[in-house]
Amino acid sequence: MTDSAVIDIRAVTEDDLPAWTRTWGNGYLRPYTEHSVDAIRATARQDRLIGAFDMDRCVGTYRSTPQELTVPGGAVLPVSAVSKVSVAGTHRRRGLLSRMVATDLRGAFERGEPLAVLDAAQYPLYGRYGFGPATAMAWFEIDVHRARLDPGRTADVSGVLQVDAREYLKAAPAVYERLRAVQHGALRRDEQWWLDATGQRPEGAAERPEPFFALHIDPDTGEADGLLCFSAEETWGSMLPRSPLWIRDLVAVSSRAEAALLRYAVTVDWVATVHLPYRAPDTLLPLWLGDPRAARVSALSDYMWLRVLDTPRALSARTYGVEGGLVLEVTDAAGYAAGRWSLQGGPDGASCVRTGRAPDLRIDVRDLSALYLGDDSATRLAALGGTEELRPGALARADAMFRTGRRPWSPRAVLGRRYQAGAP
Ligand SMILES: CC(C)(COP(=O)(O)OP(=O)(O)OC[C@H]1O[C@@H](n2cnc3c(N)ncnc32)[C@H](O)[C@@H]1OP(=O)(O)O)[C@@H](O)C(=O)NCCC(=O)NCCS
Repeated sequence: MTDSAVIDIRAVTEDDLPAWTRTWGNGYLRPYTEHSVDAIRATARQDRLIGAFDMDRCVGTYRSTPQELTVPGGAVLPVSAVSKVSVAGTHRRRGLLSRMVATDLRGAFERGEPLAVLDAAQYPLYGRYGFGPATAMAWFEIDVHRARLDPGRTADVSGVLQVDAREYLKAAPAVYERLRAVQHGALRRDEQWWLDATGQRPEGAAERPEPFFALHIDPDTGEADGLLCFSAEETWGSMLPRSPLWIRDLVAVSSRAEAALLRYAVTVDWVATVHLPYRAPDTLLPLWLGDPRAARVSALSDYMWLRVLDTPRALSARTYGVEGGLVLEVTDAAGYAAGRWSLQGGPDGASCVRTGRAPDLRIDVRDLSALYLGDDSATRLAALGGTEELRPGALARADAMFRTGRRPWSPRAVLGRRYQAGAP
């Protein structure tokens, strides 16, 4: 077995791409096709691709993308979005993941990216590197026959338009941009993303059947204010329709649009079950049904993880629920976020500077990261042991400041066939 120290962690070149893509596919159980490399190449122009190489054999993959994250209050911060993390089965548990993470976080910090984010495939992996679970997701399965939307009449779906991929592609990105401006936890979706989502990108498109698309049109402005993409499969049993419908993307900027698009999906004829993935756990969507209990939670989980790299920049970019001040002693084994920081913030803005004053709270970077978008509470994190109250009342103040009225949400769409295998 090769000594791990001689395994090289380095940037990937054009020549490395086929082997890198194949190694990643092995790790993610995705069969390699002739389009796999083209698909990576088309979407990775500005990305940092890292590989672990044993001699000249690729045994580890890691990618980070320059992204944008909306934080509470609506500011947008540049973030490093990590993906495609894998280590070959022959080389696991020898520290290669740790070395790739360390290389990439150092790069992000040096480039001035104040945060890194990722979707963790496995919970136990990333806390040790200072990431904390910053958003959660609920996945629903709606029993159409219990939803109490009377199929004998038409449920109120006014404003909904069935459209094709081209019409959708013209209107949907602007709807998403309106949501992203106000939704803390949202990431940018670029042009390549939309081409991919609508099956309009040449690489790999042929492998996917085209989904169905709908828009909601605001009657006051005539503009689209909601989007829906779904797929369905015709299924019958004993002459009864039992088709499943999988919502792939549902984004709306008004309650009216959200309600109409959900009702439209739930009243598609022949459908018995609607799968609704990746919502914030406090989503209102089930409440648009006649009986909200028809929407059963089939998965409830942490989702996007976040890592604070630049404490003053991150904390001063967001707004806070109430006016207040806190001195935070941030611990960070890797050093990036560490220090004693005076945070002064409120609903209109915040400042965060280094201080010599006595701290109110000692908080590990993992907990600060979990707290950052407002999804967790300092009181809960203290009970788990990573945060310590050094001045009475500091936990309650941190809760009042950091918590947000609605939970953060990082909207995700499900692309490709994989979804149909079922909930995660
Ligand atoms: C997850 C994966 C990348 C780990 O790679 P690796 O090189 O074996 O990880 P490392 O040896 O650097 O391990 C780092 C630490 O994580 C721990 N760890 C690694 N994989 C783990 C797992 N699946 N469960 C729990 N702990 C794990 C190691 O024990 C080690 O702990 P330590 O720091 O206390 O010593 C690899 O197993 C893999 O490719 N899995 C399939 C794809 C995947 O899940 N990728 C993650 C996508 S977000």
